[in-house]
Amino acid sequence: MSFDTEVGDIQLRNPLILASGVLGTTYSTLQRTYEAGLGAVITKSIGPRSRIGNPNPSVFALQEIRSVINSVGLANPGYSIFREDIQILNENKIPTIVSIFGENKEEFLEVLNGLKDLSVLAFELNLSCPNTEKGGTQIGTDPELVKEIVSMLRKETEIPLWVKLTPNVSNILEIADAAIKGGSDALVAINTLKAMVIDIQTKMPVLGFKRGGLSGAAIKPIGIRYVYDLYENFGDKIPIIGVGGIYRGEDIIEYLLAGATAVEIGTSLGVAYPENMIRFFQMKIKKYMKEHQFNSIKEITGGAHR
Ligand SMILES: Cc1cc2nc3c(=O)[nH]c(=O)nc-3n(C[C@H](O)[C@H](O)[C@H](O)COP(=O)(O)O)c2cc1C
Repeated sequence: MSFDTEVGDIQLRNPLILASGVLGTTYSTLQRTYEAGLGAVITKSIGPRSRIGNPNPSVFALQEIRSVINSVGLANPGYSIFREDIQILNENKIPTIVSIFGENKEEFLEVLNGLKDLSVLAFELNLSCPNTEKGGTQIGTDPELVKEIVSMLRKETEIPLWVKLTPNVSNILEIADAAIKGGSDALVAINTLKAMVIDIQTKMPVLGFKRGGLSGAAIKPIGIRYVYDLYENFGDKIPIIGVGGIYRGEDIIEYLLAGATAVEIGTSLGVAYPENMIRFFQMKIKKYMKEHQFNSIKEITGGAHR
């Protein structure tokens, strides 16, 4: 029985990847989660300059639904400083995917060019960023812009480009199609969903920024639906990575059956000991593979479509 998986040409020792933004702002937390047993890790999204992010509180736990609402807002040190962390990860041979963002094409290009000489498994393009040139709507909601950005970056590097899709669109297939036409090597679904929580005692939104993005168990059925739709339409062209609400080994299997070749895990690794969580994930997957006579992860992928 093998846990190995492939995302395009990238070989991973198992399909579990740390999602961007959770435990990914320093090399030490990235290294720790990898050593706890993941297949690879993704950094917090890195932009052209350092950003403090939104006012606190910027993360609020919704324990009753095992979910989190956040408005961290792309807080990051900027690529020129974060390079040093990636260099340490390179020296320690940690398979690292770097999530990058920009507010426009030029900023994406600047960040990619500032990091592409490093040993990076892939760049994940975080398109859930407001586009300053088009009045602040998210870049990932505009198919033309998505195609333009991906094809521009494609010309700059041989390193695989993964496009992370936002669920906050009316037609995700149109955006996915644009990403594929631009030259994306994998599709990642989904980022957080637009959300809000109000404290009825203070009568105020709980987040300092008021509005936020929802992650955790509550969004898993939405992630599954998107991965299923993406696989049905593009599964023969491009690998799909599932993300959203993974808390148990069963959730990972569900994503694989929907069509994912790998999964990313965020919120659940941020609220419990990653070492324990990852051990449980692996035990559960192994048990399932044994019970259902699967010898490889590849055999599970897309099973719900047959
Ligand atoms: C606190 C927090 C910060 C996040 N920051 C980023 C980020 O910088 N870039 C990004 O692409 N996604 C970011 N995400 C989204 C996650 O990578 C993931 O897509 C989402 O949380 C759904 O997965 P989950 O339910 O396993 O957390 C963040 C999520 C959380 C909870």
